Amino acid sequence: MIGRLNHVAIAVPDLNQAIATYRDVLGARVEAPLDLVEHGVTVVFVRLPNTNVELLHPLGENSPLTRFLQRNPGGGMHHVCYEVPDIRAAIEQLRTHGLAVLDPEPKIGAHGQPVVFLHPKAMGGVLVELEQQASLDS
Ligand code: CO
Repeated sequence: MIGRLNHVAIAVPDLNQAIATYRDVLGARVEAPLDLVEHGVTVVFVRLPNTNVELLHPLGENSPLTRFLQRNPGGGMHHVCYEVPDIRAAIEQLRTHGLAVLDPEPKIGAHGQPVVFLHPKAMGGVLVELEQQASLDS
């Protein structure tokens, strides 16, 4: 069921500094910041040859990242994202094995694809995002 590692998401307290580090020091291809208002985050995609890094920064009053950065003031790894071919089949498979997803319904994620999150308790202490892989014919 599980496919490619789509991205590793890193919460950063200083987005411009993180951009400069990945772009100017590490020489990565870094895209322009994207405000995802409904998710309460600003995201910056760092394109690597085999996967992506997403730099995350809080956006707005009720960002889910605010508390994370209070607990991790220097930033930290926020989640990993794996691709699945069919998000609803994946949710069903997880339910069969007693693993609940955090959202009752898939939401549209940063790449325009449906996503759900799994509780870190069930996943070795790491927040895991599942993203339906983009279909080849769209
Ligand atoms: Co993500």
